[in-house]
Amino acid sequence: VARIEAIPFAEFDFAHEHLGETIDLHEQLAQWREQSPMWEVQLFGQPAVLLLSYEVVSAAFKDEQNLPGRTIHLGGSAMALGNFVSTYEGSEHRIRRAILSPPFRRSVIPTYLELMRQVAHELIDEFAADGHAELVSQFTHRYPLRIITRLLELPSTDDARTAKLAGDLIRYDFDPEGALEAKAWFVEMVTPLIEARRAKPGNDLISVVIHSEFEGERLDDEDCQSFVRHLFPAAADTTLLGMGNLLSALLTQPELMAAARERPDVRTTMVEEAMRFDAPVANLPRKSPEDRAVDWRGVHLDPGTFMIHSIQSANRDPAVFGEPDRFIPDRKFAAAPLTFGFGTHLCVGNHLALAEIRTGLDALLERLPDIALAEGTSAKVGGTILRGPAQLEVTF
Ligand code: HEM
Repeated sequence: VARIEAIPFAEFDFAHEHLGETIDLHEQLAQWREQSPMWEVQLFGQPAVLLLSYEVVSAAFKDEQNLPGRTIHLGGSAMALGNFVSTYEGSEHRIRRAILSPPFRRSVIPTYLELMRQVAHELIDEFAADGHAELVSQFTHRYPLRIITRLLELPSTDDARTAKLAGDLIRYDFDPEGALEAKAWFVEMVTPLIEARRAKPGNDLISVVIHSEFEGERLDDEDCQSFVRHLFPAAADTTLLGMGNLLSALLTQPELMAAARERPDVRTTMVEEAMRFDAPVANLPRKSPEDRAVDWRGVHLDPGTFMIHSIQSANRDPAVFGEPDRFIPDRKFAAAPLTFGFGTHLCVGNHLALAEIRTGLDALLERLPDIALAEGTSAKVGGTILRGPAQLEVTF
C-alpha cells in the first residue's frame, strides 16, 4: 500500500480494540501529537489519517464541505440503522435535525430528571443490600438503555434482549445478517407504535418527533423508524461508557470521589471534565468523500480515505487545556472539549447525556456514600474507538 505523503506513519490499527488495553493510549497519542498533528495509521488494515491536535480535529469537524460526516455511514452501518441525521448533508440534514432537536434541548431536560432518578434508584435497589457490586453489568450498561426505552415508551421490557439486538444493529460491518435481523425486530416492534401514536399522540419521544414540523416538513415512517434505531448506538452505548469513565476516574482517584461526595456544586463540571479526561467516543472514524480526491491541509486524500478524529487526543491538547492529564474537578474550560463533536453534526443529545450521568452519580452517592473500588481489582478504561472500563468492582 502506498504511503500517504507529507505525514509520518505508524503501524497501529485502531480496529484492534486490544491495543487500547495493552498500551497507554493517552501516552501514545501525546507522543504522536508532539511530533505532528496528523499521522498515517490503519483502520481495518486500510490507511487512515489520524487527526490529533485540537486545532486540526475541530477544523475537520467544521469542514463539512470537504469532509462530510455522512460518508463513513453509507454502505456500512446505515444498512441496518437506516438513514438519519448522521447520513444526510445540506438541507436534508438541516431539516431533519431541526425536527428532531426540540425534545433534546437544554431547556427540556429538567422534565426527564424524575424518570432518570427513578431508573437509577430501581437499578441500585437490586444490589444496595449486597455490600458489593460490579457496576458495569449491574448499573452503567443498563441505566441509559432503560432511560431511552422509557423515553420512547417501547413495549419491550426485556432490557437484556433489547441490549443484545441494539448491539447487533451496529455490527453490520462484522455480521451483516445479524444486523439485518436486529433491524427487522425493531421495525416490527415500532410499526404499530408509529401508527397508534400518529392517531393519538402521547408524551413519548416517538409521538413528539412524528408530530414535530419544520418549514412545513415532517418525518415519514421510514425516518421515524431510523430515528428509533439510531437512538440505541447514539444515546445508550455512548452514555453508558461516559457513566463508566466518570466512575473509573472517581474510584481510582479517591480525592476525586471525596470532592464529588462533599461538593455537589462541582458535580456538573466534574461530569464534563470526566468526558474530557476520557471521551467515550474517543477516536471517531470518518471517511473522505467517495466521489473525489481532496487535498486537506497539504495532505492528499484519495477518494474514500479513512480519517480518525481523535477526540481523545484533542481533549488533552496542552495548547488548549492546562495540565491536560490531570482531572480537575472545577476546571475552567477555555474552549469546549470535543467530546460531543463540533459543528454541523454536533451531538444532538449532549445535554441529555450529561444530565443522565449527573443524575446517575447523584443516585449512587446518595445510596452508597462509602462506595470504593474493591481491593485488588482494576477499573481501567480501555478501547481504541469507543472507550470505557470493562469492569467496576465496588464495595460499600
Ligand atoms: C456521553 C454520551 C455521548 C457522546 C460521547 C456522544 C458523542 C457524539 C459525537 C462525537 C457525535 C458526532 C459524530 C460525528 O461528527 O460524526 C454525536 C452525534 C450525535 N449524537 Fe451523540 N453522544 C452522546 C450521547 C447522545 C445521546 C444521549 C443522544 C440522544 C439523542 C445522542 C444523539 C446523537 C445524534 C442524533 C447525533 C448525530 C447528529 C448529526 O448528525 O447532526 N448522542 N454524538
